[in-house]
Amino acid sequence: MTKLRRLGGLALTVGAGSVAAAVALTLPGPASAGTTLGASAAETGRYFGTAVSVGKLGDSTYVGILNREFNRVTAENEMKWDATEPSQGSFNYANGDRILNQAVGNGSRVRGHALAWHNQQPGWAQGMSGSALRNAMVNHITQVATHYRGRLYAWDVVNEAFADGNGGGRRDSNLQRTGNDWIEVAFRTARAADPGAKLCYNDYNTDGVNAKSTGIYNMVADFKARGVPIDCVGFQSHLTNSVPGDYQANLQRFANLGVDVQITELDISGSNQANVYASVVRSCMAVARCTGLTVWGIRDSDSWRTGQNPLLFDNNGNKKAAYTSTLNALNAGGPTVPPSSGSPSSSSPPSGGTCSATVRDGTRWSDRFNSEVTVSGTNTWTVVLALTSPQTVSSTWNSTYTYDAATRTVTLRPNGNGNVFGITVLANGNFTRPTVRSCTAA
Ligand code: G3I
Repeated sequence: MTKLRRLGGLALTVGAGSVAAAVALTLPGPASAGTTLGASAAETGRYFGTAVSVGKLGDSTYVGILNREFNRVTAENEMKWDATEPSQGSFNYANGDRILNQAVGNGSRVRGHALAWHNQQPGWAQGMSGSALRNAMVNHITQVATHYRGRLYAWDVVNEAFADGNGGGRRDSNLQRTGNDWIEVAFRTARAADPGAKLCYNDYNTDGVNAKSTGIYNMVADFKARGVPIDCVGFQSHLTNSVPGDYQANLQRFANLGVDVQITELDISGSNQANVYASVVRSCMAVARCTGLTVWGIRDSDSWRTGQNPLLFDNNGNKKAAYTSTLNALNAGGPTVPPSSGSPSSSSPPSGGTCSATVRDGTRWSDRFNSEVTVSGTNTWTVVLALTSPQTVSSTWNSTYTYDAATRTVTLRPNGNGNVFGITVLANGNFTRPTVRSCTAA
């Protein structure tokens, strides 16, 4: 069901590449009665996400809430530089892949976080400077974005590069000292490695029109004017008991530059928590290019803000008053996200469209069997197949794959040989045909 009526059936949007607001000639429709955060947000084309920590994927209460409520995921730490490149040139995607596979298996998409940041750098990078560090950053972005190419919704390409209390200037860091162009180099490098991911700048203390947010606003305006690829700006929104009165106006001024805006790390402490959550959600819902919200954890006990109880579920996984006020604000509706919103502005592969996959039986041997899968509706698919215990994957053809032993799911993507691919399953006595868990058009 849609919550919007389009005027005369017409929706007018302005191209993502232009420095102008995307305008949808739409009117809010009647409120809905969605019963989960993700479903309610989806009614206006938005998502509702959470940060996920790989160490909690064995916690059934945590995973139960995750799978029920959220349709977008950010790895809380697992895709950061220290996690993905612990030694220079040696990459480890195990935990990031686990989070991605769990999300995709649940029909969610992933915001990558974060490619270049002054914090959580591996020790070897912390000690570098100049061209050696710049080259290391470029290589890191290239490698990591290539590993996840076509599989992520967005990347936080650069995180927290602006200073607090410096009149809108940059933060001093080893990356900043490699030259003021390090941010645009990071964005151009990310675009080249993964043309399909939305590329975001992400920061905190940007919750209203202030010197810091204005410094970022000026950078985004400059990037759009010069064709530096940037698609979105993330507002972390770590708040304490209140939100600035110009929060929505601040989101809107960025959206008017021709980028998506997203609430990326929302958590709110204090006795006014439920009201402030509702206010933040209403602000996003009122801005057509505010494409979604992410809370920074599920239960209060999962939060980095120890003892502040800033999240939507209590330590036992029960819904708090802030959950209810958030859900109600989502269900109150708002303008839908424009269809073209946030599309990468250049050299993007075809995206969107429907995706379906059918499985048929292939050759069977005494210990293994083949299944053949035909995908229709898109050339840029991600298919997740579920195996049955105690099966495991042996190999695939016409596809690349990752296997998650914990969920016994295989995530497959095209390797350039078309839309019919196959899998050889080690049966271990069970010859049940794999089932399609999801088919996603990238
Ligand atoms: O995993 C190790 C553990 O083995 C070790 O015993 C323990 C001892 O300190 O540390 C553990 O790692 C910690 C990690 O979280 C996982 O819990 C790190 O010390 C700790 O620094 C790290 O904190 C993360 C923080 O970023 C680091 O900057 C938080 O989880 C994470 O929520 C937080 O997220 C950031 C966003 O990326 C950017 N915006 C701000 C936000 C909140 O600070």
